[in-house]
Amino acid sequence: MADACSGCHGTDGHSIGGMPAFSGKNADELKKFLRDYKSGAREATVMDRIAKGYSVEQLDAIAAYFASRKK
Ligand code: HEC
Repeated sequence: MADACSGCHGTDGHSIGGMPAFSGKNADELKKFLRDYKSGAREATVMDRIAKGYSVEQLDAIAAYFASRKK
């Protein structure tokens, strides 16, 4: 699932170009970001649409994955 994020954010959560990097953030922070994008609580240009494509369980799994890859 995380492959879908890598195109913009980089394979290890290190961003390419202007995308925000999220490696080094812990799983709880990432979960909150993604849930807020899904609910609309956090303003976004693209991440709201992306987050809505996943269930909360999937977002939690993705958050845990990127948190585990921090370098
Ligand atoms: C089309 C490019 C694109 C894709 C694909 C994408 N993102 Fe993003 N992401 C962005 C942009 C741009 C932002 C900045 C907020 C905005 O404008 O939507 C962002 C912001 C974020 C943030 C907040 C980072 C911060 O420090 O503010 C997180 C977390 C995040 N994305 C996670 C993900 C995850 C997880 C996926 C895969 C499910 C993903 N993104 C897929 C472009 C993308």
